Amino acid sequence: MNLDALNKIALAMMTPGKGILAADESSGTIKKRFESIGVESTEENRRDYREMLFRTEEAMKEYISGVILFDETIRQNAKDGTPLVRLIEQAGAVPGIKVDKGAKDLPFAPGEKITEGLDGLRDRLKEYYGLGARFAKWRAVIDIGRGGDRAIPSVCCIKTNAHALARYAALCQEADIVPIVEPEVLMDGDHDIDRCYEVTEYVLRAVFAELYDQRVALEGTILKPNMVVPGKKCPKQAGVSEVAEKTVKCFRAAVPAAVPGIVFLSGGQSDEEATAHLNAMNAQYADWLPWPLSFSYGRALQAAPLKAWAGKAENVPAAQKAFAHRARMNGLAQRGEWSD
Ligand code: 13P
Repeated sequence: MNLDALNKIALAMMTPGKGILAADESSGTIKKRFESIGVESTEENRRDYREMLFRTEEAMKEYISGVILFDETIRQNAKDGTPLVRLIEQAGAVPGIKVDKGAKDLPFAPGEKITEGLDGLRDRLKEYYGLGARFAKWRAVIDIGRGGDRAIPSVCCIKTNAHALARYAALCQEADIVPIVEPEVLMDGDHDIDRCYEVTEYVLRAVFAELYDQRVALEGTILKPNMVVPGKKCPKQAGVSEVAEKTVKCFRAAVPAAVPGIVFLSGGQSDEEATAHLNAMNAQYADWLPWPLSFSYGRALQAAPLKAWAGKAENVPAAQKAFAHRARMNGLAQRGEWSD
């Protein structure tokens, strides 16, 4: 492991005013996204769509520091034969790769999931490094609610997922790839913001304990968490300043200062909420934070361009404009300079 090199990559991913584009939807998820715009999920359509994003010069050069890819995409060429990875590098962004194999049912824990993908990971990481990946992502999913007659999450779900995240992170660092450690507490359900706070803090503490036990060097990692928000079905929704205050308080308590940066997922927030929350944290708490806060959004960056594109070549300029706009808004939010 070359920790200096890992730390340099992590810092490049945290370049001020920039954040990460999560374009690593699995085959199943991209199919759902395409269905929502009436487009068939063929290999060519997936390529055209992602090529359109990566060729959005303003967004990629000014506001995107890294792109998370799916296995198919890291091997794909643009229409003119240029590898898609090269397009990302040419824009000055770091290519990354999703390496988990998805969340599967956790035995004896009704309603809960464990993320799989550790078997063979050492060899896959070697190959991905050769293909240009300098960081990776693994997402653990923690649901809040009820599983059968028990309240969830269970300690079993949190511990097994934290253990797998640390196993993944150690293997990445061994391969000189920066692990994005992503424990996502879902915002489905009707729980309130304080329940999200409590679960998020517990999960973060469990994850950092495992990272320590498994000798992961925090300086060569990036954390990708949920923000502290109420469940979507909670009758009492929270204002922007409450989300910012509680998220910052929770992370200050549970995330070591050695972590080079935190990039939030959007998790089902609207485009504008995701921007407003990030902006509020950076505008109000910058002096109080030991790490930079940025974005690693999938839906909150792609919903608008996906809709504008609708699978038609003639819509590419409009879709690129929509992507550039969201990227610019989130770039401003990273600096705490966004206003609606
Ligand atoms: P969302 O921003 O759509 O939640 O996606 C980010 C991501 O990469 C989830 O793993």
